[in-house]
Order: sequence, then C-alpha cells, then structure tokens
Amino acid sequence: MPQFPKDFLWGAATAAYQIEGAWNEDGKGESIWDHFCHQPYNVEQGATGDVACDHYHRMPDDVALMRSLGLQAYRFSIAWTRIFPTGRGAVNPKGLDFYDRLVDALLAANITPNATLYHWDLPQALQVEGGWNNRATVAAYVEYAETMFKRLGDRVQMWATFNEPWCTAFLGYGNGHHAPGICDQTQAYQAVHHLLLAHGQAVQAFRSGGQRGQIGLVHNPQHYLPASDSEADQAACQRVYTQGVALFLSPLFHGRYPAELMEWLGPHAPKTQPGDLKVIHQPLDFLGVNYYFTDTIRHSVDGGLLKAQGRPHSAPGWGYTEMGWGVNPAGMEAVLKDIAQNYTTIPLYITENGCAFPDALQAGQVNDPARLSYLREHLQAVHQALSAGVNVRGYFVWSLMDNFEWAWGYRPRFGIVYNDYATQTRTPKASAQWYRTVIQNGGF
Ligand code: FCB
Repeated sequence: MPQFPKDFLWGAATAAYQIEGAWNEDGKGESIWDHFCHQPYNVEQGATGDVACDHYHRMPDDVALMRSLGLQAYRFSIAWTRIFPTGRGAVNPKGLDFYDRLVDALLAANITPNATLYHWDLPQALQVEGGWNNRATVAAYVEYAETMFKRLGDRVQMWATFNEPWCTAFLGYGNGHHAPGICDQTQAYQAVHHLLLAHGQAVQAFRSGGQRGQIGLVHNPQHYLPASDSEADQAACQRVYTQGVALFLSPLFHGRYPAELMEWLGPHAPKTQPGDLKVIHQPLDFLGVNYYFTDTIRHSVDGGLLKAQGRPHSAPGWGYTEMGWGVNPAGMEAVLKDIAQNYTTIPLYITENGCAFPDALQAGQVNDPARLSYLREHLQAVHQALSAGVNVRGYFVWSLMDNFEWAWGYRPRFGIVYNDYATQTRTPKASAQWYRTVIQNGGF
C-alpha cells in the first residue's frame, strides 16, 4: 500500500481556454484559440471554447466542488487576453478582478492556488505580429507576467511561466494541429527559443520584484522506446527524446542547447543572441512534469525533419486511451528518474496526468474503472520514483472536470468530474470519489 509523504500536495488541474468560456466578455480580447476555433475545419465538429464549462460564471460553485473533493491544491491558468486584450498596453481591470476572486475563493476554501501564466492562449493581436516567432513577443509576455506577480503575488505562492512549450512550438507552429495553425519547422524551433527566453526573463522579473513564492515551468516529457535494437531505430529514438526532453531541459538546467540536435537541424536551428542562454538558465524552485503516454520510435525516411516515426506503446494488459495514447505507468517512473539523473534535483510536481475514456452518465452516476486504474497505477509509479529517491512533491490530476480538449473538441472526457455540457451539471465520477479517499489517507 503506497503511502506518500505527509506534505505531498494533492490537486487537480485545468486551463483557462478549456473551461472558462465567456470568450468575449468583460473586455476580454481575442486569443489565438478563439481565432483558430472560429475558422472552419480546425477543430472536430466545429467545437469552440466560446462557452466551454462556463467556469467564468460558475467559478464559486466550481471552487465549492473542489473543496467537496478534498483537493489541497488547484492548478489553473490565466488568460492573457483577459488582462491585456491586445497583448500589451492598458490593463483590463475586470480581467484582473476575475483571477483575484478565484484566488480569494480558493484560499477561503483552504486550497493552494497554482497559477500557470501561459497555457497556449496567446493574444491574437500578437500573433498578427508573428507570435512566438517574433522576439518582441518576449517583452510583451514579461510585462504581462509582472502584472500578474504584482496583483496576485501576495496570495499565489506557486507560479508556472509556461505550460508545455513543446506543444506551443511543435503543434502550434510546426504541424499546425493547434493554434495558430502554422506549419513551418523553422518557426517552430524559433518559437522554442523565444518561449524559453520569455520564461527566463519572467523568472528574473519575479526575483527582482521580490516575490516570495516559488516559480517553475511545466514540461511534458513522454517516454520513448526504440522500436528495435537496430542502430537506425536507436538513433531515431534518441533524436525524438532529444527534441522532446533535452531541447527544453538542457537549456533550462545546463544553460545550453543539445549540440547534436542543433547540428541535425542545420538551417532550422533557432537564431539566438549572445547572452540568451544565460537568461534562460535561471535557478528554478520546481519543475512541473506532465506525463501521459509512451511511444516506440523507429527510423523512417518520411518521418519529417527528425526522420522518425512514433507509435503508441502500451504495457501488457493496458491498451490505449480514447486519444489513442498508449498506457504505460512504468514510463512515468522512467521520465522522473531521467529528470533526476540528468537534469535537476529540485522539487518535481506531477502537474498533469490523466486519461480520456468514453464515460457515460447513468442513473446520476459515472462509473469509470479504467480511469481509476490508470490513476492508481500512475500514482504507484510516482511512489516507486519517490522510493528511489526522486524529489517528487505533489500530483495534479488532469483534469478537474471534462472540458474542451483543443482540436479534439468535447469528445475526449479527461475529467474526474463529468460535465453535462447542455446543463453544465457537474457529477463527480467514481474516480473522483476514489481520489478523495487517496488524499484523505495520503495513499491507497
Ligand atoms: C496536455 C495539456 C492539457 C490537456 C492534456 C490532455 O498536453 O497541457 O491542456 O489538453 O494534455
């Protein structure tokens, strides 16, 4: 029976665009996700986050729900366009008020707020200027970050600069699956650099502003296994790993980009300026780790720039989630150990972990045994990493409730709480009831 340390932090996570709705209310500006969803064919069934879970209007009830689930912490993101509708310039006071009220409600419910400044919803006005491909976006981001530190820093003690910059760069600018829908590898690698630079400058601003809280970044290292022991597959796997993990964690923790990848990328490698890597390489208080799946990687001549192709890998008896992701709890333990051995021993938080399965509401209840096993086995893997000495301090399930799953729309249900979108009725699933007892008992 795994028992977690007494001060292990138990929470759940969401992101602004996925739950808030109210996309154009109270002075909010248009984000790249508003823009992307409003164009045809970008999102399954033409879904948008216009209403989503209507959390913007239901926030007090949602905080009460979190409390009833016994959550100790809640990870949310702030919509930049509520604060600066066009990315920079005059602050929109109503946007600040919303997050003020959210943080106060959380604290009143004895729930630790964990704020992510950027979970993919760049102001569209900045995208028009090139978005993360444009170095000027860095300064706009830092202005926004400082505004939030000043407004909420007396109460928010846990900050993440970015959620999964890998996704922003490679899905947003590389293959166009996510907003802003650009398909251009060169822009994708340039975006990586600007995202990391913005992170570094925001951390500098946080420290020089005298903030007392903790600041880190949330990354999404998945686990990669070579499809065979052929040299070509091993090398392809190494490239995918380097791009997925080292491209981010090496500049953050070692102050350099992985040389072999930069060489491989040739003309696509990001343009940097002297001193940039020093700025990126800031001491952090924690690293957020989002883990979902494991892929096997093989060499493929039509595998894009990396000449590699991935296939979902599931551990024996596990299979695949509704996303087609391969379930492999051992991958969680492996990524945590890799981080501890090769990059950093600062505290790690699992800032996301979870799965989508086709849940149904039956007689007022949602029985989701597959999710419950997924969560239990991944927690078991976290516990094994802890026992091996990895410095893991907390776990946030993705997600608090079913929500807008980006280009997949509302079909995948990741919540431990079921959301009936027609009525916005929230029903805790069996996994949520189980998670409450895990929190209460500090293990299972
Ligand atoms: C992560 C995202 C999160 C959610 C989960 C399923 O990559 O950070 O918003 O979509 O995947």
